[in-house]
Amino acid sequence: MAAAVVRIVLIALQLAGPCGAAGAALPVVINTWAFRKATETAWRTLQLGGSELDAVEKGCGQCEIDQCDGSVGYGGSPDESGETTLDAMIMNGNTMEVGAVADLRHVKNAIGVARKVIEHTKHTLLVGESASLFAVRMGFPYEDLTTQRSLSVYSRWLNQSCQPNYWKNVVPDSSKSCGPYKRLEKVSFEEETISQRNIHNHDTIGMVVIGKSGTVVSGTSTNGGVHKIPGRVGDSPIAGAGSYADSTAGGAAATGDGDTMMRFLPSYQAVEYMRMGTDPTVACQKVISRIQQHVPKFFGAVICANTTGSYGDLNSSQSCMFTQCDAETTGCSHEG
Ligand SMILES: *[C@@H]1O[C@H](CO)[C@@H](O)[C@H](O)[C@H]1NC(C)=O
Ligand SMILES: *[C@@H]1O[C@H](CO)[C@@H](O)[C@H](O)[C@H]1NC(C)=O
Ligand SMILES: *[C@@H]1O[C@H](CO)[C@@H](O)[C@H](O)[C@H]1NC(C)=O
Repeated sequence: MAAAVVRIVLIALQLAGPCGAAGAALPVVINTWAFRKATETAWRTLQLGGSELDAVEKGCGQCEIDQCDGSVGYGGSPDESGETTLDAMIMNGNTMEVGAVADLRHVKNAIGVARKVIEHTKHTLLVGESASLFAVRMGFPYEDLTTQRSLSVYSRWLNQSCQPNYWKNVVPDSSKSCGPYKRLEKVSFEEETISQRNIHNHDTIGMVVIGKSGTVVSGTSTNGGVHKIPGRVGDSPIAGAGSYADSTAGGAAATGDGDTMMRFLPSYQAVEYMRMGTDPTVACQKVISRIQQHVPKFFGAVICANTTGSYGDLNSSQSCMFTQCDAETTGCSHEG
């Protein structure tokens, strides 16, 4: 009897979405992973009278300072040459303006620079060393992003024949040796072995803030995939992929295997589902399953919030992990 009741409760939870929240009051702050300090920083920024843009910038910026999971900010995810490079974006759902930086080098506060792209340029995305020069002009310090930790990750990788890496169809065999590689004349189209990718190398912070008045702002910040090929840019700084905000429909942000996710514009798609009235958790679920139809082994997660303050999250294991603060519970908690 008790077991049956427990089972019914579990099924009810699954139907409602274990990751769906009842919270339906503004303001709302929600972000990927268990990055609680980031959520609280964003929430406090709103409480102190800051704008939604300020909240996303400060919240994601907190993760850059804290080097969240080694996947955000300086000193993490060294690329094939040992360097840490950063990707970030911020989107204003009132004006549909986006500021983004990709492959940013030698500057720690990537989302701060992204915000300056909105405020001081008519562009959307700046990349590489040129983005660093822009940052310096905007007053950001130019510094080394390398740490003891990133150096040791890098030297361990060199010492294990540069495994894993992101090359294919090259000589020497990239599954056995380090480069430099040359292309193989005969290209094979075997399915890639995503199992080599480490889930914990992709813990991007993605955040959605919806203010009291309904303004939706989203943002992301990451140092990308560990051992990436220099020049690689993932989903995070791409509008509609890493995040998307539209104050007439909602906001969404993604984390996970960015090389796969950016091909499906999951954040854009989730916001469009919510525009049609789809429940936020269901919107997240629908974009995840659309990707899984093509790439069954992909891993990632999407967070979704609609304009009336309901929110949800779903990952590729049909589970959830996010942190949120909302006006209804007047506090912050962590799911998953
Ligand atoms: C490199 O790997 C070998 C064996 O796998 C190990 O004995 C050695 O200590 C490693 N060196 C460094 C610098 O990690
Ligand atoms: C937001 O989602 C909740 C829960 O599904 C729903 O009740 C509400 O109507 C939605 N709001 C909008 C504006 O669609
Ligand atoms: C999905 O969420 C669960 C529970 O929070 C977590 O343990 C798991 O690693 C996540 N899986 C993916 C693929 O993100």
